[in-house]
Amino acid sequence: MAFDLVFFGGTGDLVWRKLMPALFQAFRHDTLPEGGRIIGVGRDDMTDEQYRQQIQSRFEQVEGDKRPNPEEFARFASLLCYVRMDLSKPESYAALASRLAERETDHVVMYLSTAPSLFTTVCEQLAACGLNTPKTRIVLEKPLGHDLASNRAINHAVGKAFKEQQIFRIDHYLGKPAVQNLFALRFGNALFEPLWRREHIANIQITMAEELGVEKRGGFYETTGALRDMVQNHALQLLCAIAMEPPINAHADAIRDEKLKVLRALKRWTPDTLSQHVIRGQYSAGNVEGKAVPGYREEPGVSPQSCTETFVALRTEISNWRWAGVPFYIRTGKRMASREAHIEINFRPTPHEIFKSPVGQVNKLVIHLQPKDGLELHLFAQGQSKRGQGSGGATLSPVHLDLDFDKRFGSERVGAYERLLLDVLDGRLNLFVRSDEQEEAWRWVEPILRHWSTDTIGPRPYTAGTWGPSASSAMIARDGFCWSEEI
Ligand code: BG6
Repeated sequence: MAFDLVFFGGTGDLVWRKLMPALFQAFRHDTLPEGGRIIGVGRDDMTDEQYRQQIQSRFEQVEGDKRPNPEEFARFASLLCYVRMDLSKPESYAALASRLAERETDHVVMYLSTAPSLFTTVCEQLAACGLNTPKTRIVLEKPLGHDLASNRAINHAVGKAFKEQQIFRIDHYLGKPAVQNLFALRFGNALFEPLWRREHIANIQITMAEELGVEKRGGFYETTGALRDMVQNHALQLLCAIAMEPPINAHADAIRDEKLKVLRALKRWTPDTLSQHVIRGQYSAGNVEGKAVPGYREEPGVSPQSCTETFVALRTEISNWRWAGVPFYIRTGKRMASREAHIEINFRPTPHEIFKSPVGQVNKLVIHLQPKDGLELHLFAQGQSKRGQGSGGATLSPVHLDLDFDKRFGSERVGAYERLLLDVLDGRLNLFVRSDEQEEAWRWVEPILRHWSTDTIGPRPYTAGTWGPSASSAMIARDGFCWSEEI
């Protein structure tokens, strides 16, 4: 299957850090379809050879066995070429068109890894040059807009040039192996389904914590913040994967229809819930892994008076028969105590206790997304006690069943971007977000943004290297629960 994969933003950070390494891994795993060509598009004046050299020098910084050896890189590099373009200039598209016309392909993938402000122009120009043929697929990186109106405008412009089946909106969290295993766990096993509901589940917690700060992206982050950067997309997609009904089959639209229903059922905000159930924070100077790090307001590109949130914790509910009344907590932040992403399904306690359980602990299922990728089922068991148990009831000990997917399936498994790029090349839309899902997510997030724009309290400071402002713990404690690290 011959393909041309065009990276708009071909000299940008995402291409260097994620996309090229992912393609290289697919190449190495022999899963990249044959007959492919990868075309980087950028403003710099470069030859194909210079582009290859740039990529080679980036790859040389890769540590460990992911770094290609020279012979491997030479074979991979033969797929790479470069087209210089100024995306705002119509004549630039002719250069791309003639490069694409050099050979017959089955598919052309246009990957828009550029500022979203360019999405509309690029799609219009591709259409004007006839580069929106039925064999074209278009991939859009987040953020897709900064609110509902701008998201709709982008979807509308892209939709004028391409049909929905040609549009691949990336949310790289959906490509993470643990998320695919969440689908497998829920819909490939009969065991959990009867328990997967309000009668048995007390609360669900989604944590996506990073140790990194905003790095060199201060300018971008200032106008984005954690709510738009992580909650509107990654967190809500995880929530959908947990809460959706079993789809009727594994086709893209069957899955996306069910996710959409969850988004539509998210409890609407009221003035009270907006002020009590959404906490925003901003990191101040602190220590991460023993190293002193500056506060957010001291980061390059960030205003010293910035009110941009680097942390969000919120509580929501899903108004349907399966989930009514079950709190879903979402928490994400930069410069937190450790880098980890996990989902915790906390079950209800036994209805009547004949044993003593450790205080505050319940059965729970933890789905680890990173750095570990696996499942833990927390149970209680009775160790061998030397003394008789008497009739007072033994004290149980917490134990857990641990499934480490890296150990089970090997750590050479397909990474998120590799999976998603291969899916684009295969035309599989299951792990991509449909426009109506995305719009619904913005619709839910917008009242929070509006509330913050008039709220004078601003983000609460938290010390870098901690789990966020204390208000986040207070919010969950009001329901009688706590975050996992507080047990
Ligand atoms: C991106 C955000 O979508 O996800 C970044 O823009 C964030 O700010 C990143 O760091 C986190 O992804 P991961 O896969 O490292 O958890």
